[in-house]
Amino acid sequence: MPHTTFYFTGTGNSLKVARDIASGLETPNIISIAENIDKATKLALQGAIGFVFPVYYCGLPQLVQEFISLTNLSEASYIYVVCTYGAMGGNGGCISQARKILKNKGKVLNAAFYVKCVDNFILWTWDVTPKEKHTALHEGAYKKSQEIAKIVLEKKRYRDRSITEYIGPILFGYGHFLKTVNFDDKSFNVSDDCISCELCANVCPTKNICLNDGQPVWKSEKCQRCLACLHLCPVACIQYGKVTAKRSRYKNPHISTKELI
Ligand SMILES: Cc1cc2nc3c(=O)[nH]c(=O)nc-3n(C[C@H](O)[C@H](O)[C@H](O)COP(=O)(O)O)c2cc1C
Ligand code: SF4
Ligand code: SF4
Repeated sequence: MPHTTFYFTGTGNSLKVARDIASGLETPNIISIAENIDKATKLALQGAIGFVFPVYYCGLPQLVQEFISLTNLSEASYIYVVCTYGAMGGNGGCISQARKILKNKGKVLNAAFYVKCVDNFILWTWDVTPKEKHTALHEGAYKKSQEIAKIVLEKKRYRDRSITEYIGPILFGYGHFLKTVNFDDKSFNVSDDCISCELCANVCPTKNICLNDGQPVWKSEKCQRCLACLHLCPVACIQYGKVTAKRSRYKNPHISTKELI
């Protein structure tokens, strides 16, 4: 049976998990959601189809929601989602949201998994997960990815539970996030330390940044708030509002910057 794993990532956690799952599958095929969103309606998918992505505000990233909605899954024989998540709010409503989209397409969500990773969310009151916890989280994510591959290979039904499944998206303002995220990137700002290297524009999965006179400009078109621009800037000169200046930056150490471009 062919296996296709679609992924969306900002700082690499979800790409690493997608790869680790794919390495345990027959005929693995890993495809970027961001690079294929324009072709989504033309993709004719067969066999086992997986979607791997980060949890945002206890829900699905907007692009992932759009991609699953648009993709032709009529020939898919087994569908699963894998949500990577951080520390706060747990994992939330991704599974029920994905199930609903699939139900509208006449398909069933056969399996759904949560994988705990390093938290890259630094826009509210907390920082990146403390460094001393990273190794254990990476090891735990790898172990869980191997378990997921086994379940997918056997085409078993499976569902991780979350205590924030229904209340999480409400508490975290997921509905507002979904409606405004694409154009609500005005809080990003850049300091005089910018060296005009263009990395922020290159790592942006939706090409929402351009450089104007050597300075990044957020286009307010397709932002996903993935924070790749902010976390990967080599001189950490990108901020979001005023809260991020003193916070850490993060990229999954098993994924190179080049792999995120
Ligand atoms: C905008 C945004 C919102 C997030 N919301 C949540 C959340 O509600 N719950 C949670 O546990 N983690 C949350 N996170 C953390 C990410 O889901 C987590 O770190 C994920 O593994 C990042 O994946 P990536 O490296 O593939 O981008 C959020 C991260 C971002 C950038
Ligand atoms: S990545 Fe940072 S230094 Fe490079 S252009 Fe963007 S803001 Fe400037
Ligand atoms: S502008 Fe930054 S936060 Fe928005 S999608 Fe691009 S990289 Fe992600």
